[in-house]
Amino acid sequence: MIKLPNLRNADVKGKRVFLRLDLDVPLTQHLTIADDTRLKDSLETLNFLLENGATVIIGGHLGRPDHKFKSQKSKFKIEENKFSLKPVAQWFGKEFKIENLKLKIENFEGLRGWRITDSLFLLENLRFDPGEEANPSTSPLTMSSGLNDSGQVFAKKLASLADIYVNDAFASSHRAHASIVGTAKLLPHFAGLQLAREIETLSYLLENPKRPLVVIIGGAKIETKLPLVSKMHKFADYVLVGGKIAEETRVLLKVQHEKVENRKSALLVADLNNEQTDVTPKDVENFVQIVNLSQTVVWNGPIGVTEGKEGNYEIASYKLAKGIIDVGAYSVVGGGDTIGYLKKVGLLNKFSFVSTGGGAMLEFLSGENLPGIEALIEKS
Ligand code: 3PG
Repeated sequence: MIKLPNLRNADVKGKRVFLRLDLDVPLTQHLTIADDTRLKDSLETLNFLLENGATVIIGGHLGRPDHKFKSQKSKFKIEENKFSLKPVAQWFGKEFKIENLKLKIENFEGLRGWRITDSLFLLENLRFDPGEEANPSTSPLTMSSGLNDSGQVFAKKLASLADIYVNDAFASSHRAHASIVGTAKLLPHFAGLQLAREIETLSYLLENPKRPLVVIIGGAKIETKLPLVSKMHKFADYVLVGGKIAEETRVLLKVQHEKVENRKSALLVADLNNEQTDVTPKDVENFVQIVNLSQTVVWNGPIGVTEGKEGNYEIASYKLAKGIIDVGAYSVVGGGDTIGYLKKVGLLNKFSFVSTGGGAMLEFLSGENLPGIEALIEKS
């Protein structure tokens, strides 16, 4: 069993705490927050720290700002606007009932951010600094846990703001990024309360799953999800893939499945309808039939459009959600877009466990060590 340093044992009074949170919330096209579940989930740890006398500096990321525009000032300005954490700063201001909150960006020892209260600061999107995602591999999304020079420099800069590091960002803990791995190594560190709960529940599921176990993967983050589908073949009895990832990587998914030695799973890849918006009704029916056989269902990523009219029961993701709920299996759902959709259609509270993590949840259930969790673990 993974043993994490328990925040409730920490003496945080009078200390500055760097709190890494999952601030990667879905936004509307007008750049307002479409679903604040991840922010609400962060409040337990944040309030614990504030109530116990800490000054809290929150750090997190939003989306994937593109650094190729860094040299083109006007284009990078657009990126900075699109991926700014200002809507999140406003959310915290409202949550803490700050009247006439004037959100003026300030400089905190070389890092930009907003002062929400005298004891609460929020840093601007950490991914605006190339050091956040830097590590020796060419891919910014690699799982490697080593940070290169700019990663180390950025981790040190973040660590210099605080006396203690707390990670309550389970959904980002599969990324070997500066604020996830680097700062944990430089400061006394603790697991946030939500993160600890996620690890406890998902560890139990990983070790004692009731079978048959179905994993459903949809959504659009193809380069992240493609390797994860493959990793699920040793854990799940059925792997069902729908949505954009199914449409774009169908052949690859099947080839990968064939190649996995000692695979447990059967694989079903759904087709999209003629409009390319949703999984075909026949494939949803097939998915629901397999779900009907199961005792455990894990779901990450909508399997088609999620912006249909309220009460539109023709949407494949809605039918699938209903199918999962009706069968009464132990059901785990994770990932920002899936949670946002289920909340919108009023079905989220019908699931047995809601994980803030999408990719991180699947990565953990594949039995992989997550770099962010490794950096916290108590070695005995
Ligand atoms: C997520 O939403 O899954 C996390 O914020 C991780 O985002 P990433 O896939 O861009 O690293």
